[in-house]
Amino acid sequence: MPEELYPVKPEIARVAHVGSMEEYRRLYDLSMADPERFWAEQAETLTWFHKWSTVFDADYEEVDFGWFLGGRLNACFNCVDRHLKDRGNQTAIIWAADEPGVYKHITYRDLKHNVSRVANVLKEHGVKAGDRVCIYMPMIPELAYAMLACARIGAVHSVVFAGFSAEALRDRIVDAGTKVVLTANEGLRGGKVIHLKRIVDRALEGMQTVTTVLVARRTPSEVPMQAGRDHWLEDEVKRQRSTCTFEWMGAEDPLFILYTSGSTGKPKGVLHTTGGYLVYAAMTHKYVFDFRPGDIYFCAADAGWITGHSYIIYGPLANGATTVMFESTPVYPDPGRYWRIVDDLKVNIFYTAPTALRAIAQAGDSWVKEYKRSSLRVLGSVGEPINPEIWRWYHDVVGEKRCAVVDTWWQTETGGILITPLPGATPTKPGSATLPFFGVKPLIVDHEGKPLEGNGVSGALCLNSAWPGQARTIHGDHHRFKETYFTQYPGYYFTGDGARRDEDGYYWITGRIDDVINVSGHRLGTAEIESALVAHEAVAEAAVVGYPHEVKGTAIYAYVVLGAEYACRSRQEMQGALKEQVSQAIGRFAAPEVIHITASLPKTRSGKIMRRILRKIAASEYEGMGDITTLAEPEAVERLVKEHRDLSGR
Ligand code: WTA
Repeated sequence: MPEELYPVKPEIARVAHVGSMEEYRRLYDLSMADPERFWAEQAETLTWFHKWSTVFDADYEEVDFGWFLGGRLNACFNCVDRHLKDRGNQTAIIWAADEPGVYKHITYRDLKHNVSRVANVLKEHGVKAGDRVCIYMPMIPELAYAMLACARIGAVHSVVFAGFSAEALRDRIVDAGTKVVLTANEGLRGGKVIHLKRIVDRALEGMQTVTTVLVARRTPSEVPMQAGRDHWLEDEVKRQRSTCTFEWMGAEDPLFILYTSGSTGKPKGVLHTTGGYLVYAAMTHKYVFDFRPGDIYFCAADAGWITGHSYIIYGPLANGATTVMFESTPVYPDPGRYWRIVDDLKVNIFYTAPTALRAIAQAGDSWVKEYKRSSLRVLGSVGEPINPEIWRWYHDVVGEKRCAVVDTWWQTETGGILITPLPGATPTKPGSATLPFFGVKPLIVDHEGKPLEGNGVSGALCLNSAWPGQARTIHGDHHRFKETYFTQYPGYYFTGDGARRDEDGYYWITGRIDDVINVSGHRLGTAEIESALVAHEAVAEAAVVGYPHEVKGTAIYAYVVLGAEYACRSRQEMQGALKEQVSQAIGRFAAPEVIHITASLPKTRSGKIMRRILRKIAASEYEGMGDITTLAEPEAVERLVKEHRDLSGR
């Protein structure tokens, strides 16, 4: 069947930054032919205190990349202060509170004052350039102030998504070596209270290294405050001046660490630097969303993930945008919430994850049609493959066939969007992220690491170019950085994703091919969940796989073998206890959908768990298990299938 091709809308192309395929190709070719010249021109869009001397330098042996070397700038200055002259009174951030209809508009001038005050508080508590600061906050304006305040004084923020548990938070605080933690007394999400301060207290139990906890007040509730260590942020900022000088940071000085899951149990602190990251975030925000001054831009992600860093805070603010920060969920108080915000705020550009779209599409079109949505122009998707049906729903129902849909592929490690359509240039195909952004050279590589030439090929997705936004290292473990991304396919960056390049050269991301799964847009390592499970005294062995799920995209399926003394416990009781175990170790969002208790796992004679088989069974695919004669215990497969049928009814 020929794939559908959605042509570019002429009204969008007419005014777009890149208005045709010819223009896209021209710029792409320029970026390939002379990357240094291309990126130097882009870097000019930022304000530098001191110009760089070298655009790009790399030691490929050591996997050491540097951009805009010798240049000095400040990310906070670029996102805030430099806009004051022309747009001091323009709204920088519109905060959409959990309570429907409650908004707060923060101008660039207010932003500068608020950020400066928080920066002064940090300084007073001894934070200096290069120090790591942990931010564990709900989606409130103080979260943005805290990130920008760190950037202002050269501190390195490590934002931890507020859905992580105390244990997970503790690991991240220890790994980053942070002395200061910012949090809130409580968070509010979908009308529910999240006891953030209490979680921080638990995370810090017995830990001497954290000397200061700054607590924003989101709700009227009082919380226990440890004398000497804990301070209310509102009291602290009151004493501070609304101006604060900024550090002149080197382009390659770290801007932030963001933890993400990999294929081992230990999360990785992905490190991004200042100059290249900001150039890339700003440029992609401008071109991919076709952002123009005056646009109201709404990315519904959480700032605890890379999407929030690059496309709620740094990219949009560097471009002087009005960016919406949304505290609630897509279904609170009802599945019309996004479109209510779109109408209330006259949103032009909207960016979310397929999992959210699936959840609201399921609730019925009437929730969408109740609102006008006439301001919308560009609709973005990120985080997991978007299934063609949902893509069409997004385009036809939400966008009324008027809006451009951009399916944007990228990762925490890439800093910004790498494969994507451009609204005014790229004809789209539902389900395809289409073509590489400027400066990006994707490769499809076979099992032996050989790049596959031509179109109509599939394999592992690698990248064969350097771009300013790429991560520079894993905090404290450069060796792991090299091993994880640059050894599997020597010479190339391996993304962990599989992909196909179709007859037209369009890219289709087929999903992770390593032991990482994307659950409702949250990235999780199966090894991380397994180590949480085996930490429970009842568990002898665990194997975790993903399986297709209608709303979550992928859901978590855990096979668990219990120790002999627990084998007679009620299954229901054990399943509940093990879900709780994972919630405690990582966070509720990581709790397996299915806990399949069984007597043994299928293994090869050498003792390797056959995950391929476990994945098939979890997906209720009973055909094509491949050769199972090499298994130590071939009858285990039949038993697992039977148990799975009983569990799932399929
Ligand atoms: C997946 C999120 C298909 C992919 C920005 C990637 C996608 C992982 C897409 C990174 C997309 C992200 N189509 N898959 N448009 N966008 N992914 O680090 O598997 O949280 O490797 O970054 O999400 O997840 P991360």
